[in-house]
Amino acid sequence: MKKRIGILTSGGDCAGLNAAIRAAVHRADLLGWEVVGILDGTAGLLFDPPQVRVLHPNDFDNNVMRMGGTILGTTNKGNPFDYPMPDGSRKDRSEEIITNLKTLGVEAIIGIGGDGSFAILRKLAMQGGIRMVGIPKTIDNDIGETEASIGFDTAVAVATEALDRLQPTAASHDRVMVLEVMGRDAGHIALSAGIAGGADVILIPEIPYRINSIAKKIQAVKEGGRNFALVVVSEAVKTLDGESAQMEFSDGQKRYGGIGHYVGEQIFKATGSETRVTVLGHVQRGSQPTYNDRLLASAFGVRAVDLISQGKFDRMVAWKNRQIVDVPIETAIAAYQAVDTNNTLVHTARALGISLGDE
Ligand code: F6P
Repeated sequence: MKKRIGILTSGGDCAGLNAAIRAAVHRADLLGWEVVGILDGTAGLLFDPPQVRVLHPNDFDNNVMRMGGTILGTTNKGNPFDYPMPDGSRKDRSEEIITNLKTLGVEAIIGIGGDGSFAILRKLAMQGGIRMVGIPKTIDNDIGETEASIGFDTAVAVATEALDRLQPTAASHDRVMVLEVMGRDAGHIALSAGIAGGADVILIPEIPYRINSIAKKIQAVKEGGRNFALVVVSEAVKTLDGESAQMEFSDGQKRYGGIGHYVGEQIFKATGSETRVTVLGHVQRGSQPTYNDRLLASAFGVRAVDLISQGKFDRMVAWKNRQIVDVPIETAIAAYQAVDTNNTLVHTARALGISLGDE
């Protein structure tokens, strides 16, 4: 019988996941191994029998490698150590997952996730004596120990394209256009897309802003003879009172939303400029992956299988200094990576005269 690897995607989806799964399946096939895909992250392991699908290289080489999303499905809810039961109670279901993983007869699992998923998967792996390697993915690009995560490049490309599309309509109507982007507590998407898309103002959670500073910049743009301005706001930027703009949904969950409209209103009040707001939302996750995300995903998928074949576990593949390396998962989880306010891109933005709202 062939040796088996399990693979799952966990946490929010992003573009490039299918390319990573494909790469792992191809590499494993060349090594004579079989890959079994676990459906819906750890949720697929809460069924008896577990929800899985054996994957073949041929499953991927037409459209799938080009598609956003994940053919395996994923979940960013239902921590198995504190699982919400239908009657409202919470239950530790970790042992069910471990038992089901063992019935799959896998040598090791590849978890494609962010830091939250890695923490859960690693805890399961430790408890159950399961061997695991991680592949970093998140549009937020906030995982430590890697310069890039799958999905970030595509999200930035989508946000940049949104600015490209907002600019002509802004210019036609003499408007300030505010674009709210995702990124959770890290401003990487806003900073990169804002520079690439010619924003006048970029607000990120790492740099507190003053409305006067934004108004001054917009005034300067007008005095310079330009009739429009582009403003990018990261979703976790706070209001002037220091509050997070979050909405509570009827499922009891709080999610980011609203800071774009808040900032737009503040800009209107401070400058009198006609202002419109676009909230980009999940469009940033659903696109066809850029070539960069496909390359990163391919290199990560191959390296993850190679680590397993070399007997190296509890490692996360990473991108550093133009190379694929691997690091302890624990270190990566501990090294959360928000925007370093002294980094090259922050300096670049300032040097271009882009306001970060603080000067
Ligand atoms: O972590 C990725 C991310 O897209 C964040 O940027 C965003 O805040 C969040 O997930 C949205 O989560 P959900 O898909 O649950 O709405």
